[in-house]
Amino acid sequence: MLKGRSILLGITGSVAAYKSIDLIKRLKQEGASVKVIMTGASQRFITPLSIELAAGDKIYTDMFEAPLSHISLPAGADLFIIAPASADIIGKYANGIADDMLSTTLLAYSGKVIIAPAMNWRMYENPIFRKNLNYLASLGIKAVGPDRGSLACGEEGVGRMADIEKIMESIITSLTVQDLAGEQVLVTAGPTREYIDPIRYITNRSSGKMGYALAAIAKRRGAEVTLISGPVSVIPPDGVDVVTVGSAREMRTAVMEALPMSSIFIMSAAVADFMPVDVRDSKIEKKERLQLNLVKTRDILEEVGALKSKPFTVGFAAETGHRLDRARKKLLGKDMDMIVFNDVSRKNAGFDVDTNEVVILDRGEEKKLPLMSKKDVAVAIFDRILELKENRL
Ligand SMILES: Cc1cc2nc3c(=O)[nH]c(=O)nc-3n(C[C@H](O)[C@H](O)[C@H](O)COP(=O)(O)O)c2cc1C
Repeated sequence: MLKGRSILLGITGSVAAYKSIDLIKRLKQEGASVKVIMTGASQRFITPLSIELAAGDKIYTDMFEAPLSHISLPAGADLFIIAPASADIIGKYANGIADDMLSTTLLAYSGKVIIAPAMNWRMYENPIFRKNLNYLASLGIKAVGPDRGSLACGEEGVGRMADIEKIMESIITSLTVQDLAGEQVLVTAGPTREYIDPIRYITNRSSGKMGYALAAIAKRRGAEVTLISGPVSVIPPDGVDVVTVGSAREMRTAVMEALPMSSIFIMSAAVADFMPVDVRDSKIEKKERLQLNLVKTRDILEEVGALKSKPFTVGFAAETGHRLDRARKKLLGKDMDMIVFNDVSRKNAGFDVDTNEVVILDRGEEKKLPLMSKKDVAVAIFDRILELKENRL
């Protein structure tokens, strides 16, 4: 996601400084090149050697050691992240103070800046600090976190540095073209549960990973996102409006409620096709045989397809075997704009894995994608949606 991007990382004097090692590793994993500047105080918390080893490159600590590096470093950077950002660096930056390598380089930089504040909650609540933070926000400087939790001082409160994945997401979002800005994306994800009695239910193997990836990518590209999710264990992306549901019936109600506000609707949930005719209110006793009487659930996509006015609608066809014919029939039969076919019997595709191998079918074309991460599949799906939407205009 950050291939070819050049990131400047500033580390300041906070107990959270050791977490910067993980941030450097993640940035490099995503393909970024990372240049690190450490303040004097940060070196009391973590050694420059540890940071240098993680970065695999020379790090910068002293303005006078490599003269003019405070001008040359920012010139080539796509983004400047300060993590952890002390109250001190935030105060200096807000007031134009340039008295060490980090604060001076920051002043010489005119690109995107993200700060990840970390401090004791009393410092965070201090009105002087807040004034500085608000002033930076008014200039478009993005703050990620801090989060609530137990702090290094043993107290509980808001002040913990945001976790690394959250920081990564805000970096990637800042460097992503906001081509879905103005779109209201509605995504469904996960399985549904159809209860037999208060204890037992029928469900399916959907993990929700594909739907959550779609929601994350839509958010990253600037859309307003609503995610209607069945019971899953995936953590929802930040900034997404999540509606949790249990049964197919609840999923339908939630979809119909959110649909009028949506411009793109992606039905990636694996909604149960059948539900028990009646749900017992007490546990069914154990016996030799039990016959379940099931009835078809309402087909949400079919219902949406029949609407006169509807968003750009995308369905998923999870099939066993290369049944593209069935996917195409579904696309036309339910009047969708696009359907994403995946053969769940293939290795590393479909349920509960982080990868998928799909074919994107629309009214005109069929696009076969290689095996890739679900996030990359989501990127390809939105690329195609935008292409088709533009052609319609
Ligand atoms: C044990 C200890 C922990 C500290 N943790 C933080 C912190 O989390 N956030 C913060 O803003 N300051 C913290 N400080 C204070 C800063 O290190 C101090 O303000 C320092 O001048 C910051 O310098 P810098 O911004 O140049 O790195 C801590 C100090 C000590 C001794």
